[in-house]
Amino acid sequence: MKSIIAPSILAADFANLEKEVQMINESQADWIHVDVMDGVFVPNISFGIPVVQAIHRHAAKPLDVHLMIVQPERYIEAFHKAGASVISVHEEATPHLHRVIEQIRALGIKAGVALNPHTQIAVLENVIESIDVVCLMSVNPGFGGQSFIENTYKKVRQLKSLIAQSKSKALIEIDGGVNQHNAKSLLEAGADVLVAGNFVFSSVNPKGVIQQLKNL
Ligand code: DX5
Ligand code: ZN
Repeated sequence: MKSIIAPSILAADFANLEKEVQMINESQADWIHVDVMDGVFVPNISFGIPVVQAIHRHAAKPLDVHLMIVQPERYIEAFHKAGASVISVHEEATPHLHRVIEQIRALGIKAGVALNPHTQIAVLENVIESIDVVCLMSVNPGFGGQSFIENTYKKVRQLKSLIAQSKSKALIEIDGGVNQHNAKSLLEAGADVLVAGNFVFSSVNPKGVIQQLKNL
């Protein structure tokens, strides 16, 4: 299977969101990655439900909504209504991961679980079969433009083996610091989905960068 490329709208020009979404629509991107931050789970606030709705109105590609919020179970329904096709919650943000996964799947959309850089892959052992996407954070969540954490490769291999041992069809998504230096090696290690924020949006040719990632 070809890799899935998900440009992260966090790095876009928020004063020109329609234009930025249009650029993604016209590119070879597969998903639009949408980072929601609450200023509690992570030390930054990005945007919330009305902005996700507005992005969805213009988007021709599925929205991959990454919730960096505490107790995400409170907002699953709202983000589904706002247009999410994938909702990822952080394992560290809820004591009821199994219940939240069921909540997302009951809406007929993809359920994702995101893991911070320090979190062991083993926390997924009891839920891996019902997860559609595992989002491995390759930076500490909260900000775009940070440096990729090299230990991520080890986690990709561990996660690949957990998926292989189970009946899981989970996709492995890498989020943070993805660029021309690590993208190919990440795919070779077993990643299926690459999120890229600054690498895409700080380029003079964002569509070209997306094309480059898609054709690695
Ligand atoms: C970080 C976010 C990432 C971020 C990636 O908290 O979850 O999705 O937008 O941005 P880059 O690719 O710039 O590291
Ligand atoms: Zn993200």
